[in-house]
Amino acid sequence: MRAGKPLLAALAGKRQPTPPIWLMRQAGRYLPEYRDLRAKAATFLDFCYDPALAVEATLQPIRRFGFDGAILFSDILVLPDALGQRVAFESGDGPRLDPIYDAQDLAKLSRQPDWNRLGPVFEALDRLKTALPSDVALIGFCGAPWTVASYMIAGRGTPDQAPARLFAYRHPDLFAALIDRLVDASAEYLIRQLAAGAEAVQIFDSWAGVLPPAEFDRWCVAPIAALAAKVRAKAPEAPIIAFPRGAGTQLAKFAPLVGIDAIGLDTAVEPRAADAVLPGRFALQGNLDPLALIAGGPRLDHEVERVLEGFAAPRAHIFNLGHGILPETPVDNVERLVARVRGETSP
Ligand code: CP3
Repeated sequence: MRAGKPLLAALAGKRQPTPPIWLMRQAGRYLPEYRDLRAKAATFLDFCYDPALAVEATLQPIRRFGFDGAILFSDILVLPDALGQRVAFESGDGPRLDPIYDAQDLAKLSRQPDWNRLGPVFEALDRLKTALPSDVALIGFCGAPWTVASYMIAGRGTPDQAPARLFAYRHPDLFAALIDRLVDASAEYLIRQLAAGAEAVQIFDSWAGVLPPAEFDRWCVAPIAALAAKVRAKAPEAPIIAFPRGAGTQLAKFAPLVGIDAIGLDTAVEPRAADAVLPGRFALQGNLDPLALIAGGPRLDHEVERVLEGFAAPRAHIFNLGHGILPETPVDNVERLVARVRGETSP
């Protein structure tokens, strides 16, 4: 089974003649069929927790573009929800959580996620196992402890997640306790996703880039290392992708992490610079600018060539964006991108 999936082969470190491709946030509002489907659920969380809708949302981009990877349709904030924090998504305005200000707020969280609440996620994975074409790999995911904690503290996305950074300086022990809880819960969550049918998992550290070096070591690298080690202990074969967005020159800190198989590069990273500081066994994933995908046309073609050339042999490359696809993206441009990467249109 595995040999037939180019994405899994690349994650095993084997460079593919054509890089396998999937896109972060590939299911979403840029697709008209997603908007129709989304209208069937009252809230975004209801949508995530309905296995039939989650399966359909996962499959939509596969049907349209034939990506090599299908990422489970869900969200990183279902974990705080399952830990008992109030989570809501306000349309067009991003997530809202009850912010955490002190020890009392932290004490209100459950020790363990409510696994029944997350049952529909595992059910969706189980159904996807059989619904996907045989050469498409099923990707599970979670948010990295730092990124999830940053939403839990602030109660929302902010330009630089300052509330969580300030909380971590003021109350390092409390913050460490939250991070530890997220490491344990996320590891168990990924292990359960793998048991339910995920063939690889990605850890999204979307806010890694706002941390100064010592904080980066403590709240980004160490928790991801601990999380990956826990997953490895239970699922030794499962490929793990880490996406430390904004890590920049701190990418080298991931080099010793034994549990990680691939690193996702954001738009600002020079692929050759990452290649120079990471052991050859890591596959690299990335890193087309989502804005180039909106721009389209010959400029998109040019940027695609630049990415393909940047991720030079012999290292395995998985083509992706440097961050999630944006709602404004024209569907035709995604088609053009896939054809280009697969060499179906000439440079
Ligand atoms: O990649 C996929 O197609 C799978 C689905 C997926 C979603 N969110 C669906 C979603 C994944 C992998 C995520 C991850 C996620 N969620 C991250 C990490 C990746 C990143 O982009 O940095 C983060 C930080 C979140 C938290 C989150 N969820 C935010 C900040 C928002 C609002 C911004 C936005 O795009 O609206 C969401 C909502 C969300 N998650 C939507 C989707 C499709 C849009 C809501 C809707 O369609 O009603």
